[in-house]
Amino acid sequence: MDIVVLNGSPKGDTSVTMQYINYIQKKFKQHKFKIINISQRINKIVKDKAFFEGIIQSIRSGDGVIWAFPLYVFTVHSNYQRFIELIFERNVEDAFKGKYTALVATSIHFYDHTAINYMNAICDDLDMHYVDYFSAHMYDLEKEAIRKNLLIFAKNFFDAIENEAATLKSYSPVKYSPIDYVSEIRHDKIDAFNKKAIIVTDSLKNSNLRNMINKFKQSFAQRIEVVNLQDVDIKGGCLGCIKCGYNYECVYSGKDEYTEFYNHQLKTADIIIFAGTIKHRHLSFIWKMFLDRAFFNTHTPSLSGKQFGFILSGALKQVPNLRQVLETYVQWQGSHLVGFVTDEYAANIELDNQLYDLACNLVKLSALGYRKPATFLAVGGMKIFRDEIWGELRFPFVADHKAFKALKVYDFPQKNYKARIMNFILILLCKVPFIRKKIYSNKIKLSMIESLEKIVENA
Ligand SMILES: Cc1cc2nc3c(=O)[nH]c(=O)nc-3n(C[C@H](O)[C@H](O)[C@H](O)COP(=O)(O)O)c2cc1C
Repeated sequence: MDIVVLNGSPKGDTSVTMQYINYIQKKFKQHKFKIINISQRINKIVKDKAFFEGIIQSIRSGDGVIWAFPLYVFTVHSNYQRFIELIFERNVEDAFKGKYTALVATSIHFYDHTAINYMNAICDDLDMHYVDYFSAHMYDLEKEAIRKNLLIFAKNFFDAIENEAATLKSYSPVKYSPIDYVSEIRHDKIDAFNKKAIIVTDSLKNSNLRNMINKFKQSFAQRIEVVNLQDVDIKGGCLGCIKCGYNYECVYSGKDEYTEFYNHQLKTADIIIFAGTIKHRHLSFIWKMFLDRAFFNTHTPSLSGKQFGFILSGALKQVPNLRQVLETYVQWQGSHLVGFVTDEYAANIELDNQLYDLACNLVKLSALGYRKPATFLAVGGMKIFRDEIWGELRFPFVADHKAFKALKVYDFPQKNYKARIMNFILILLCKVPFIRKKIYSNKIKLSMIESLEKIVENA
């Protein structure tokens, strides 16, 4: 069979993900693999129509497609996303329709599920026969059990093609027809006092987005800065070179305006609004490039203590995966998410009120310095970073290690000596049946609230 592999790594052949593909290739010599370096060659793919057509032709004539990609900031690399956008923009969806497909992803399992969800949904949008995914930790190939399972996964995929197996659609198409939003109500102006607010967007072409941004801006007594990412000189997507790992210095430093913008305009704001249009289940590839390039801060939160809002044009309610990505992004940064406003409302007035309320809440909560506790999204995610940076990834991520020590990210439970001593004593005591009975029958519930009760009493 002819299998087309769409490589999502900006590193091309020198890619961790490709080692998994190479391994499969070696073990299934009866099949022909055509590996296409999508992310690495995106400029040529965009500019050279014949080159793009050649790729599409390979897909058309192939028996199956493997989307093989590294995780980049919750989903796929911005260049890979650009390729996905091009499929729809250039109306070549028919080349993918009915093709059997599977995903091979590598990562450190930080939000690999959101990348899988995104790609699964794209495959469903393209009306492909989605068989399965294999999401490996980047060094999993070293483990025999994983290698064995990788081959089972691959065989299952090839069998599905051969047997024309029935496949399942997990995502319904996004249906979206918004109102043409025009602001109708004038609200009293809000004083942002000394709080600096910034709106970052990727395009002002979408009139709903433009009008929402304007209404939001006009809620303030002060002038609010709007930065269009298309006006910032960003030379290209993240190269995955990890030069930043040592001291947060990006390989593009001095060559474009990205880090300058990030450090001097974004990081200095108290209130940050990200505004954009949802298309093909994500914000644009320009937004994705912005998110990927912020990786020059590696795994160290760089936007802590901000109040965040999102103004989005698009069907966010139908893309909960994107909502989770954006919510985690804010939580993980140690910032506070005030809310999302989208143009999914039926009336202009509703949208006016939503935008005005967002502005009021951003200012109020910024003045109060409010930040609600992170949920599993960031608590769980941070533990993955903690373990990786303390362990296998301390080199090359030297700067993270220093920062994690300073920020007390290394909160390993082994260091909780009080809990360890208590556990030791209680486990020992519970070996005696009558003590165990006493503790488990009436002491546990009370002891769980003892310290909290004291705080309430003293309040
Ligand atoms: C800019 C950048 C962003 C990344 N984002 C994530 C992420 O969100 N989640 C994750 O688990 N790993 C993330 N990683 C780790 C890569 O997914 C992982 O190292 C992968 O195996 C690299 O594969 P490649 O060599 O094929 O590009 C990121 C790496 C880089 C350089």
